[in-house]
Amino acid sequence: MNTRPVEPRGTAGGPLTPFLMLGLVWAVFALLWLSWLAGRIVATVVRHRAGPGFGSLYLERLLRADWPALWPGVSPSTVGVVYAVLLLTLVGLVTLAAAWWQGRKPDAEDPLPSLAGPADVRPMALPAVAAKARRLRRALANLPVKDIPAASAGVLLGEHRRRRGSGPRLYSSWEDVILAVMAPRAGKTTALAVQSILNAPGAALATSNKPDLWATTAAVRAEHGTVWVFDPQSIAHVPQGWWWNPLAAVEDVEDAHRLANHFVQQVRNSQGSDDFWIQGALDLLTSLILAAALEGRTLATVQAWLSDSTSREPAAILKNHGFGASARAMSGRQAGAPETREGLYETARTAAACLANPTIMAWVTPPDLPLPALDVETFVESTDTLYLMSKDGAGAAAPLVAGLTDQVLRAAVAVAEAHGGRLDPPLIACLDEAANICKIADLPELYSHFGSRAIIPLTILQSYRQGTRVWGEQGMDALWSAATVKLVGAGIDDARFAEDLSRLVGEHDVTVASHSRDGRGHTSYQTSVRRQRILDPAHIRALPKGSALLFATGVKVAMLNLLPWYDEPLAEQLTTAVAASTAEMTRQAQRTRAARRDRMAQRSWRGSAG
Ligand SMILES: Nc1ncnc2c1ncn2[C@@H]1O[C@H](COP(=O)(O)OP(=O)(O)OP(=O)(O)O)[C@@H](O)[C@H]1O
Ligand SMILES: [Mg+2]
Repeated sequence: MNTRPVEPRGTAGGPLTPFLMLGLVWAVFALLWLSWLAGRIVATVVRHRAGPGFGSLYLERLLRADWPALWPGVSPSTVGVVYAVLLLTLVGLVTLAAAWWQGRKPDAEDPLPSLAGPADVRPMALPAVAAKARRLRRALANLPVKDIPAASAGVLLGEHRRRRGSGPRLYSSWEDVILAVMAPRAGKTTALAVQSILNAPGAALATSNKPDLWATTAAVRAEHGTVWVFDPQSIAHVPQGWWWNPLAAVEDVEDAHRLANHFVQQVRNSQGSDDFWIQGALDLLTSLILAAALEGRTLATVQAWLSDSTSREPAAILKNHGFGASARAMSGRQAGAPETREGLYETARTAAACLANPTIMAWVTPPDLPLPALDVETFVESTDTLYLMSKDGAGAAAPLVAGLTDQVLRAAVAVAEAHGGRLDPPLIACLDEAANICKIADLPELYSHFGSRAIIPLTILQSYRQGTRVWGEQGMDALWSAATVKLVGAGIDDARFAEDLSRLVGEHDVTVASHSRDGRGHTSYQTSVRRQRILDPAHIRALPKGSALLFATGVKVAMLNLLPWYDEPLAEQLTTAVAASTAEMTRQAQRTRAARRDRMAQRSWRGSAG
């Protein structure tokens, strides 16, 4: 701990003695003056002649208890009553002032007085955020600030925590981009993700590897618009009601490269530097995706081409559509040493393993039934909600979740540009479990543009290191710096991150009193001012569940109480929705299990017959 004794003082009799003496003198003076004031007030009220002014004559008569001379024609007991009232008022005021000062003076044991106070967080409280929303959103331009509802003003982050009780609710504005880092079960979904989706004024996108976010919010969101659920791995057991063609938005090499990159993220190392195989697999997938898109084929074709490393078709298509360089690169790769070619194809196959899963492919290839296709541009301008769910790990649908999220975000940028620069209403993109299922490689770079387009990403990570594993040290640093609102909650076990946060929170001077005894038994008292961290790393590690530190650009670090949905006014409605969704999920899961058991029984019957 960094401590710096600033003014050690030894004072016989105690450090406060001179102050106590001075205070005593002033107190006696105040008591005497109050008695004079009480007499004056009573004399004025009963319209009697006033006695002597406050001075030596008054004091002399007071000491002699010469009441008639002090307050001519006025009853001393009336003066006594007024005096008591004045005294009580004074004591009340002094107590209030002392409590106010006590609440604000730095405390070695309590960080709250040294963190953001009411005035510091005012720019993030409702009136200021609503005023900003009126400036940022055309739809609110003619509304009085007081009529702008909280959900239209910004994204609810939590409630400002104070030493005694709590302060106002704090919001991020429609030009903030948000990053939250909290351990498992710290309240990321129940407090942040659910609130952001429930209150989204326009379209909302949510990624998750669990059904909880969908189960809690889908019913309420269905009142605002269509609910689209992308659940190819049956996390919520939602039957397929639509499909998405990832190739529909692929027109050139850049589009194909972006889509291919989401697959390659599955096999990329955490250093962020691509080796020969990764880079080769990325180029190969880019070429195959572009060729399939140009011919109006689907991801099924890409998968078929991946299985046949000698197929000349992709190169021919690329050449026919004028992508000569891509065609030559493709042919060159196929003409190389067989070991190299197979190595590249194998890496690409591993990256795109999910394409070999027919259940997943059913969501991204033309369905047998006449299901609608999702149009991302229409979605961005709607008040619909899109839930994207995938498991973690190899073969998961995560690249498709990242791909669809990326296409929605890009469509949002295009729509914003076509509407004068900003989306109105804004798009909320809540990327829960982003480091597991939504590894958009250039998310850190995109972050710095989104705020100005009214695209509000809320990326939720379990730890800083989880982000480093996906985006590399530099990428994660860039994401951290680009996020204008950062929330750090319970369970930060990364010593380096905790130390960095502790330094960001800063230091304060605290007064420490101590006493020592010399050889002759005399006690001497000392006060010293010590400079120490407001929150040391151990305190940050021990942040309780339900609280979070808020690092917002231009605002002192504040402590928040998170606001989980189950403690909010909608709790009853949402609990009913969760129960209904869970019951439906259970029914679907039982049906799936029964069908699987039937299939298994069939197989073993055939086996024994053979
Ligand atoms: N309806 C509820 N009533 C009371 N507590 C709940 C309710 N739902 C969840 N919780 C509790 O809230 C806490 C936070 O849960 P939440 O799902 O938000 O965690 P999380 O940070 O998203 O974790 P994970 O990383 O596992 O997704 C958990 O301890 C959970 O048990
Ligand atoms: Mg969660």
